[in-house]
Amino acid sequence: MSKNLGAWDKAKRDGRKMSMITAYDYPFARMADAAGIDAILVGDSLGMVVAGDADTLRVSLEQIEYHTRIVAKGVQKALLMSDLPFGSYEQSPAQALASATRLIKAGADIVKLEGGEAMVETVAYLSARAVPVCAHIGLTPQYVRQFGGFKRQGKTPEGAARLLQDAIAFAEAGARIVLMEAIPSPLATEITQRIAAPTIGIGAGPGTDGQVLVLHDVLGLNQDHVPAFAKAYLDGAKLIQQAMADYADDVRSVKFPTS
Ligand code: KIV
Repeated sequence: MSKNLGAWDKAKRDGRKMSMITAYDYPFARMADAAGIDAILVGDSLGMVVAGDADTLRVSLEQIEYHTRIVAKGVQKALLMSDLPFGSYEQSPAQALASATRLIKAGADIVKLEGGEAMVETVAYLSARAVPVCAHIGLTPQYVRQFGGFKRQGKTPEGAARLLQDAIAFAEAGARIVLMEAIPSPLATEITQRIAAPTIGIGAGPGTDGQVLVLHDVLGLNQDHVPAFAKAYLDGAKLIQQAMADYADDVRSVKFPTS
């Protein structure tokens, strides 16, 4: 898949599903790109899976900028998306443009922001100023305190109607991708059918145009909070810990190094 967002629109029209994974450094970005993943997200989930925080709220723009720069070195073909972290865009569209500009200059092809109606003006503002935007709706982790935890969204008829309205408004404002997290599968499918922009889901069922997962969940490296909808393709923590234990044993028994 190309970095060209027109190709993403075509993939949606053609019914070709798209894959996205998070990455926070050069070696994993390089592997994801070589594996043929369509998009790589420098997510503010790094606050949780890399920095060990309980939520994403402490991640700074400087951190995302730094990780975008090192991830970009490993990405040739995939679309590179970077998160606007909490506190870097909510004040005004101008604040969002200043922050997004830094991420684009660091190597991002598109920036992602979280929210609903209050962010529609910002999406239009960025889109009109050469910044492609992905709108993240549903379980938006930056709102964890308002939600009272990492809770599924859109479960009531009113909540579902609001998310549909938000998705339509974001797409009309110019959002190039709409990402939906932890919402009912039929709602995600309906939103996908109602908007022209490609949709990416996480915990939103199979009806979206693509899927995203957090790298550490895919590789089984996350030993803390693993969402129920995640799928591990490797028991990474066990394998890596065993390799480290083998190394420590070899040092203790003087099997390594050899003369
Ligand atoms: O920060 C992140 O990794 C994300 C994904 C969970 C979509 O926003």
